[in-house]
Amino acid sequence: MFRAMLGPGVELRLLEERHAGVLFALVDRERLYLRQWLSWVDLRSSEADILDFIRGVLAQFSSNQGFSAGIWADGSLAGVITLHKIDWRDRSGEIGYWLAREFHGHGIMTDAARAVTEHALVELELNRVEIRCAVDNVKSAAIPKRLGFKCDGVLRQASLREGQYRDLEVYSMLRSEYRRH
Ligand SMILES: CC(C)(COP(=O)(O)OP(=O)(O)OC[C@H]1O[C@@H](n2cnc3c(N)ncnc32)[C@H](O)[C@@H]1OP(=O)(O)O)[C@@H](O)C(=O)NCCC(=O)NCCS
Repeated sequence: MFRAMLGPGVELRLLEERHAGVLFALVDRERLYLRQWLSWVDLRSSEADILDFIRGVLAQFSSNQGFSAGIWADGSLAGVITLHKIDWRDRSGEIGYWLAREFHGHGIMTDAARAVTEHALVELELNRVEIRCAVDNVKSAAIPKRLGFKCDGVLRQASLREGQYRDLEVYSMLRSEYRRH
């Protein structure tokens, strides 16, 4: 089982089928909030949908195409972080994340994104890791900024959410720029 400690009581654990119930309960509780920012929320409307999602990401993990990890705080599932869209030819990948509101404001996601960035650039030896955020998603963009990612620019109308096209900022870190802190 993949596991990484982020700090006292906070850890990343690879999502497994047995987490479908608790993950569905969290997504369902946070559905109205997450829908503002994430386009997949309405596609996961039952525990069976979440189980399909977990099976999909486990298949990605076993074929070396990234992973999704649950973020656990004092034994409770707090959110999810994903490394996906891995392109081995260009040696690049993208990080995505979300956190239930009660866990906001403690730096948990910044720590999780730092750990996944290190894993991608150091363990997997990718050359480039991206984080994409809607231009109005200030809290999300604060994470790559805090970690020293650079803003590459804006992709115009690159995302369709709640019936509206949204501009996305692209942040990246290169292997040559990565410093352990
Ligand atoms: C994006 C998201 C995970 C950010 O959550 P967050 O709680 O702001 O992020 P962190 O866990 O890194 O915490 C950072 C906050 O904790 C504070 N903090 C406290 N201790 C900290 C520490 N040791 N390190 C860093 N930040 C710390 C920071 O000041 C910041 O608070 P502020 O925004 O009031 O300045 C959350 O807003 C979310 O889930 N949004 C919905 C889904 C989404 O938008 N996903 C991204 C799509 S691109």
